[in-house]
Amino acid sequence: MDESENGLIGEFLEGTGDSFEKVNRFMELMTRYDCAIREVRTKFEVLNEELSYKTSRNPIESITSRVKRPMSIVGKLKRLQKPLTVESISENLNDVAGIRVICSFIDDIYKVADMLARQDDITVVQIKDYIRKPKPNGYRSYHMIVEIPVFFSEGKRMMRVEIQLRTVAMDFWASLEHQMKYKKESADRPDIAAELKSCAETIAATDARMLGIRKRIESLEKETEEGKDALEGSVKLFRL
Ligand code: GTP
Ligand code: MG
Repeated sequence: MDESENGLIGEFLEGTGDSFEKVNRFMELMTRYDCAIREVRTKFEVLNEELSYKTSRNPIESITSRVKRPMSIVGKLKRLQKPLTVESISENLNDVAGIRVICSFIDDIYKVADMLARQDDITVVQIKDYIRKPKPNGYRSYHMIVEIPVFFSEGKRMMRVEIQLRTVAMDFWASLEHQMKYKKESADRPDIAAELKSCAETIAATDARMLGIRKRIESLEKETEEGKDALEGSVKLFRL
């Protein structure tokens, strides 16, 4: 968390209390979001650990997370024309706590997303499937907003977390597209937008091919295993 920005937030927030008190309440809320991220991160780490010994490969490549910066929070509340108060943050914003889960293959995304959604302390608030329905610019990812209980000294709080799940390839495109487009108007030129979209489609096709390769290898391995089992079975019969 950026301490200097946190100090400034008192100037921007409206509502009751002096600046010092508002900063304190704001920082307490940010700490809660940070704890919510940790809870969700642990859930993904547990799933990854279990699936990796069951399948001998890691469905999750990496996990990153962030708490939204104070100035981005103020900016978004202003854009949404919502009150600039501490209460308004948790009422109106879903993406203060954000976690990004980078998966190996497309089917891993749906597998881990579904496993998380079925956990009984998780409430799914919203799903945006930009993989089945990519954004017009070519952006692909699976977005979930979930609510999770976090237990603090004075009781349980339901906290919202935005989860973005994407493959390594989708992340490659989204990271570079974000870097190139951020506050640069020329990136909106139709020829550049078309080129970026075409790259996204090439990447999506490669993701699908990589999944196809993995499935072929898995079925060949299965055939070999079944062949071995059959051979062992007949050797046993012969010995009898
Ligand atoms: P925001 O106000 O940006 O949070 O959008 P939203 O509330 O409509 O939510 P959405 O689920 O569409 O997007 C949330 C987040 O996904 C963004 O903050 C980005 O991190 C990411 N994202 C969405 N669209 C794009 C895109 O076109 N390119 C890249 N690089 N990231 C995107
Ligand atoms: Mg956002």
